[in-house]
Amino acid sequence: MCLFTLEKQWQQWSSLTLRTASSSSSSAFSQSSVTLSSSRNQMTHDLAPSPPSLPIIGHLHLLLSPLTHKSLQKLSTKYGPLLHIRIFNVPIILVSSASVAYEICRAHDMNISFRGLAAIDESLLFGSSGIVNAPYGDYWKLMKKLIATKLLQPQSRGIRAEELQRFYNSLVDKARKAESVEISKEMMKLVNTTLCRMSMGRSFSEENGEAEKTAQEASDPLFKKDIMSVSDRFDKLLEKILVEHNEKLEEEEYQGADMMDVLLEAYGNESSEYKITRNQIKSFFVELFVGGTDTSVQTTQWLMAEITNNPDALERLRAEIDSVVGETRLIQETDIPNLPYLQAVVKEGLRLHPPGPLLVRKFQESCEIKGFYIPEKTTLVVNAYAVMRDPDAWEDPNEFKPERFLASSKSGKKEEREQTLKYLPFGAGRRGCPGANLAYMFVGTAIGVMVQCFDWKIKGDKVSMEETFEGMNLTMVHPLDCTPVPRTKTLFL
Ligand code: HEM
Repeated sequence: MCLFTLEKQWQQWSSLTLRTASSSSSSAFSQSSVTLSSSRNQMTHDLAPSPPSLPIIGHLHLLLSPLTHKSLQKLSTKYGPLLHIRIFNVPIILVSSASVAYEICRAHDMNISFRGLAAIDESLLFGSSGIVNAPYGDYWKLMKKLIATKLLQPQSRGIRAEELQRFYNSLVDKARKAESVEISKEMMKLVNTTLCRMSMGRSFSEENGEAEKTAQEASDPLFKKDIMSVSDRFDKLLEKILVEHNEKLEEEEYQGADMMDVLLEAYGNESSEYKITRNQIKSFFVELFVGGTDTSVQTTQWLMAEITNNPDALERLRAEIDSVVGETRLIQETDIPNLPYLQAVVKEGLRLHPPGPLLVRKFQESCEIKGFYIPEKTTLVVNAYAVMRDPDAWEDPNEFKPERFLASSKSGKKEEREQTLKYLPFGAGRRGCPGANLAYMFVGTAIGVMVQCFDWKIKGDKVSMEETFEGMNLTMVHPLDCTPVPRTKTLFL
């Protein structure tokens, strides 16, 4: 998403800065310790170490690079995995190692189960009525439950299978015409349509691609004006779909069962457990589409690039798919549990290229971490990118080596948990990504189809792996554009 990446963090940081800049002095944060009030026994605790900063702006200059996750990674390599930095007078705790992430999640998961105030309250996208910025409470629990029970219900498998076949047909068509494919565009169509059909029983493409265009805009650079324009366009589209759904719900024979039906029932029902607003319904859908789509799209694109640049991995993956699936039918999601190397390839791609490299939360209360005092309301930034490339936790951290995920762990429980916290593409704890399993399905089956059925011709010898931020996700400077050459007969599920 992700939802949680740079632009949004900037909006949050800068809005927080503006909100508090006039009320307190920046000098408070240049101290290395603070004295607590008498109610806390006048104890003095040290703040986490702080790298040298500039007057007034603090560490802002270090974060102005277009690749913030990398400048923060450099900072932690030099000064340590737990740092106290500040932007103007907004304090931030920066975490860059699995062991510190483990300590925070083990002891403070509840304390950090909030992301902070929305940058633009009224926006349907990352505003105050969506799930992303929702406090840990009834609305959030209802939405989490709906994702688990409605979005991921077994009946939705059929929709994914149909859309996967459509994705494959489209690639066959391109191959026949010897046309090149922009992987991210094909993947965007697949994920967008599938998510829409799974959540509200119809695809947005019925609106002449308006939603796809809007979702695409949401992955371009976003400032307040752009966010509001995306929000307004989604508002109109969703309002229309909500009215249609409402009309259907009123038909006696209609037995609505998708997520939108359930939310509309809760909206119209005076006695429902939790009263939701129309804006909350719309925000939820917008965040689901924007958050679930581009992340899966970028992951697939990075993975195809890694596979293309690593012919040994491609060969091993193809051999596995050929032996498990064969050459007479298309791979499907029920094959994935039998394809350990494919699973390892997807995990390794996400380790090296997490779409949302920085995870942002907020400490609701003051606490102590690794012996350092964390004041309440401090923003927490976990640099998942740095954690997943930490040389103390990963061998050859910058190499694409899917095999590392095949080795079975014989370690104890605590060590196992610590091990899982060195792998953070979906975040962690109660606010971790609820769409992780679905994302593994989207990405695993799409990669599976592209590897099983086609060879891919690229321009030049190697794909450039240069990174940039676009909109909300870490993406490729040069979008992957390659031409499919069929290697199997036309296949059907
Ligand atoms: C490769 C694909 C994806 C990646 C890498 C990804 C990553 C993330 C990350 C890093 C977070 C923040 C976690 C944290 O703060 O600890 C998150 C949250 C979230 N993701 Fe995903 N995501 C992906 C796909 C999806 C999909 C397909 C959906 C749709 C079901 C989805 C829905 C959400 C939602 C609703 C949240 C907010 C959860 C909350 O605040 O409680 N994501 N995702």
